[in-house]
Amino acid sequence: MAQQVKAVIARAKGAPVEVTTIVVPDPGPGEAVVRIQACGVCHTDLHYREGGINDEFPFLLGHEAAGIVESVGAGVTEVEPGDFVVLNWRAVCGQCRSCKRGRPQYCFNTHNAKQKMTLLDGTELSPALGIGAFAEKTLVAAGQCTKVDPAAEPAVAGLLGCGVMAGIGAAINTGNVGRGDSVAVIGCGGVGGAAVLGSRLAGAAKIIAVDIDDRKLATAQKLGATHTVNSRTTDPVEAIRELTDGNGADVVVEAVGRPETYQQAFYARDLAGTVVLVGVPTPEMKLELPLLDVFGRGGALKSSWYGDCLPSRDFPMLIDLYLQGRLDLGAFVTETIELDAVEQAFTRMHEGDVLRSVVVL
Ligand code: APR
Ligand code: ZN
Ligand code: ZN
Repeated sequence: MAQQVKAVIARAKGAPVEVTTIVVPDPGPGEAVVRIQACGVCHTDLHYREGGINDEFPFLLGHEAAGIVESVGAGVTEVEPGDFVVLNWRAVCGQCRSCKRGRPQYCFNTHNAKQKMTLLDGTELSPALGIGAFAEKTLVAAGQCTKVDPAAEPAVAGLLGCGVMAGIGAAINTGNVGRGDSVAVIGCGGVGGAAVLGSRLAGAAKIIAVDIDDRKLATAQKLGATHTVNSRTTDPVEAIRELTDGNGADVVVEAVGRPETYQQAFYARDLAGTVVLVGVPTPEMKLELPLLDVFGRGGALKSSWYGDCLPSRDFPMLIDLYLQGRLDLGAFVTETIELDAVEQAFTRMHEGDVLRSVVVL
């Protein structure tokens, strides 16, 4: 039987979010209903509310979540009721041209639930990133549920569902950071901070954190940055070169998503080095670079979507490392809040006070 639960929705462009009652259908074939235990507040939720993603209001917000599988539909074999899972927005299809070539981390046809969750009057909701987890329960494709060790704190585990995975993956999957590398991370919020943490995990010898906010630089240091640069007062390209024997870093992760910080990343990398863009630009932004420099400096200019993660491979591994005390995922949870405090969390996020506010249910 369909259930009624409390959830946070964005009803109209720019309007404050509200807690309301939604209807969650029973899981159909290939679907699962998950009882949400925790869900982080991400920039993308705010972008949805501001109409920056599309116009398919009302949105059911929230997508960095962990919870317990409550029920599954016909044909579901990957999870069963009682499983502790992190929700992902890359439920790979196994059939598209990328999956078929053995590159499921780029799957072009990821799965979401087929049925719709609705308001009480039947209005269909658009779940953020196909998840919608600022809710007591949500309906997803079973492949969106990734089982991890239930010993992990839900508020921490859920963060792997988006921003923290994006940052760690930008470093270790996309940037291929390895033992002895020098890395610079421009923008050390939740995503950039996670790139710092991932770089340390991968054995980077030098990790240079760049931000315009000293609070973020202090956090980055705790996460493993060996050097910090405040780019409001210091030219970051010069500083990174100085810290790398005049050469530039092997890998530079851009975790802001702006043309000027991308240019910094481009020139702060060593010859044949790698730039990873994980910050999300807006549609009007344009990049101008001398093509001769693009050619002449060699190396790789890459983008990282969701840290090029493969949830089934990366989530359980990262949770295990966290439980062993080798990966401080807990550092990203700045505060835990109730379902009705998402709007205030957006404000705090804007003011740069938090890495992540996490709704705990
Ligand atoms: N130079 C360096 N750092 C900057 C600059 C700049 N010009 N502008 C902003 N920053 C820093 C901020 O001070 C902040 O610490 O970038 C960081 C951004 O962090 P958050 O706001 O916490 O955002 P985060 O969740 O890390 O996401 C980063 O990826 O998911 C996208 O939309 C998101 O584009 C954003 C990016
Ligand atoms: Zn696919
Ligand atoms: Zn997100």
